[in-house]
Amino acid sequence: MNDLPSRRFVLRDLPLAARLVIAFFLLSVGAGYGAALVQIHFQQARPGELLPNGDDLVRTFSGERGHPQSKIEQLLTADESHPFNGQGTMRVAFTTKSESWKSAIKETAKELKIKDLTKAEQALRHQRDGEVDAVLAWVRAGAPKQDYEKDHFVLPADLAKREITSDYLVTDDKGKVAEPKAFKIQTLFNDRCVRCHDPEKQGEKAAQFPLNTYEHIKQYTQVAASGGGMSLTKLAQTTHLHLLSFAMLYGLTGLIFSLTSYAGWVRMLIGPWPLVLQLAEISCWWLARMDPFYARAIGVLGGLVALGLMLQIVLTLFGLFGKKGKVVLVALVCVALAGGYMVKQRVIEPYLAQEGNTGQRE
Ligand code: HEC
Repeated sequence: MNDLPSRRFVLRDLPLAARLVIAFFLLSVGAGYGAALVQIHFQQARPGELLPNGDDLVRTFSGERGHPQSKIEQLLTADESHPFNGQGTMRVAFTTKSESWKSAIKETAKELKIKDLTKAEQALRHQRDGEVDAVLAWVRAGAPKQDYEKDHFVLPADLAKREITSDYLVTDDKGKVAEPKAFKIQTLFNDRCVRCHDPEKQGEKAAQFPLNTYEHIKQYTQVAASGGGMSLTKLAQTTHLHLLSFAMLYGLTGLIFSLTSYAGWVRMLIGPWPLVLQLAEISCWWLARMDPFYARAIGVLGGLVALGLMLQIVLTLFGLFGKKGKVVLVALVCVALAGGYMVKQRVIEPYLAQEGNTGQRE
């Protein structure tokens, strides 16, 4: 009777206009993924490295093992070469990211009558290091609440001898530094941190992690039982953002791929691939709090997600068009590869080399 089995619908059946839309959608996803990698570079990798390595992932997701620290200690003792975020360093809040750093150097030069600006910067950094040490001393003393409320933290003997920005030393009625030396801990947090960590500041990323009250600060002064990787607040935030946005994206690319004319097992394997591996990867973000093994697995799983997405994009593109279209695609791929190679040689590598040499970003 009916000897022509009803053929299943494939993408090739779509009108050319629809296939062009799909092709450009996939190309945009590919470009967007590239941009996401650039962001990962800035957020997690050390300067000079393209992507985070296993150790960076362990630091980000598991925290320093063996000697657990509070979040504030971790962020203020990490040197300035770490990325400027909640897993890297906040030390730059006292230097290059502090308010009018450049003019502060010039003022120091004037005050101390130093001509050489590099020497003036060194002197200024010395005072700012004193501030960092005072904050650390307060945190290590258990972050006493009354010190914060009274804006009066009596410095331990060794710190009292050190040079510290005089604005933060408590003065007596005559304007002289009071004895014993005390540090204005609340003023310091307001000047150096609340500038960004202010819940009122719309659009500022750090506003989601306020530091304008004692209770907010206190959270970050406690030694985390899990070792001090990404804070739970931040982890919950990234998890839901990632799951919702990327699930949408991989859902679409996967559905489109599953309608191509490749063999059933290829579509069954590659269609859900990025979605499944993403779930495994994000589970590892959480498991890494218990064991750094999972932090290292994140790199591998993330790479596999990328591979799956790339296969979906490339294979779907080739499945969309006839012979002529395929020739055009091959030509485009060659151009893209050549362009990519040039960008790598001329832009990315010199940039990374410079980042690696100076240890700094921007
Ligand atoms: C120039 C702006 C800026 C200044 C100044 C600043 N921070 Fe941050 N801070 C950030 C940004 C941006 C992040 C990352 C936010 C994110 O993960 O989205 C961050 C993250 C953090 C986090 C991690 C929050 C979390 O739950 O993940 C802590 C803790 C922190 N900062 C402490 C401090 C302290 C203490 C100071 C003052 C010494 C300070 N910051 C000064 C911008 C700033």
